Amino acid sequence: MVDMSREIEKIVESVRKHHELFTNALPLIASENITSNTVRMLLASDLSHRYAEGDVGRRFYQGCKYIDEIEERALRYAQELFEAEHVNVKPISGVNANIAALFALTSPKDRVMALSIPDGGHISHSRFSIPAIRGLTLETFPFDAKEMNIDVTKMLKKIKLKKPSLLLFGGSLFLFPHPLSEAREVADEVGARIVYDASHVLGLIAGNKFQDPLREGADVIASSTHKTFPGPQGAIILCREDLRERIDKAVFPGTVSNHHLHHVAGLAVTLAEMLQFGEAYASQIITNAKVLAQGLYEEGFDVLCEHKGFTESHQIAINVLKQGGGAEVATRLERANIITNKNLLPSDKDPEEPTGIRIGVQELTRMGMKESEMREIASLIGRVIIANADETKVKEDVIELRKGFQHVQYCFDGKDAYKFPELK
Ligand SMILES: Cc1ncc(COP(=O)(O)O)c(C=O)c1O
Repeated sequence: MVDMSREIEKIVESVRKHHELFTNALPLIASENITSNTVRMLLASDLSHRYAEGDVGRRFYQGCKYIDEIEERALRYAQELFEAEHVNVKPISGVNANIAALFALTSPKDRVMALSIPDGGHISHSRFSIPAIRGLTLETFPFDAKEMNIDVTKMLKKIKLKKPSLLLFGGSLFLFPHPLSEAREVADEVGARIVYDASHVLGLIAGNKFQDPLREGADVIASSTHKTFPGPQGAIILCREDLRERIDKAVFPGTVSNHHLHHVAGLAVTLAEMLQFGEAYASQIITNAKVLAQGLYEEGFDVLCEHKGFTESHQIAINVLKQGGGAEVATRLERANIITNKNLLPSDKDPEEPTGIRIGVQELTRMGMKESEMREIASLIGRVIIANADETKVKEDVIELRKGFQHVQYCFDGKDAYKFPELK
């Protein structure tokens, strides 16, 4: 019989090693972030064991007195931060939030328009997912690869022609604000709703530094809460008051039974942090992204959209075909403790061998890095990929650089961010 206590030790040991890796690495995955210590503490609290189906003050179970206090705060802070008429904090992930929004606003076999995956759409916007929801059909937004954005003229024409019931904006490769206000008028003409998936850019929206979807024409924002918005993994839906009932029902009991209460507590704390620090954080993220993009360009990389200042978000997209393609480049960078991901670019076909890599600076910005560190990171990446330097030597410099950035900023308590939490 296997010694199960030894097996458990091995699991804990792997998690410890993971913490050690991230203490010593440069995390540049655009869809991740790190929470403050209060959030980490709350994620490990008893709330993770409980149920609270229903709404604040109207639960199906007893024992929810303090959970009500917490959720009420999360709702209030989110309403204030995003100036939203209605908020739902129950979806447990971004995909769950998208499904709930589609469930709320479509009828079976309706037509949805979204970005294709190579143009930046998420898998939950794609032909792999949309038809699985109520037999919905999918049309893609026309995309201008040079501008790395939706082609407005062609989009307006296509909406008039195809008459979709729902336009799903937002994406996973998301450099520039999407043309929401341009779409609104024609959406009204054909009777289409607009959902904006803000998963990647929610923190930038919170800091008023990207676009303002609810004012520009979105009916609903569906979003995960852990990318540029530096909260716990989970999601949020923001909408107009007249859609409250539809959205709430589509979430509970439509697509969520018990929401994750420890996440709601962590979300409430992150919302408070963003009310205090959101503008400064979002502003530094965008500055850092632009500086890193410029640095990489000067290293000799084919960074997309040089003619537009590379990016208006936390992301940078690079075509690395000449350097061996996205898979090879991301693997080589990992050997130097630089963590990125291979990424499809427009016109790519093979998800295993895309031509791009995607970089996001939101986590390192949260760790306090600024312009000079971005220049240093560009040089480290250039040494590995352009100069073919010994990766183990670059790794030593990465570890050295990282030593000065171990505390989460833009919060009240971010000491030793990657330290393994001891409860024993
Ligand atoms: C645009 C977009 N929507 C939704 C998601 C999915 O979010 P989650 O992983 O929270 O389900 C992602 C994930 O990266 C995303 O990029």
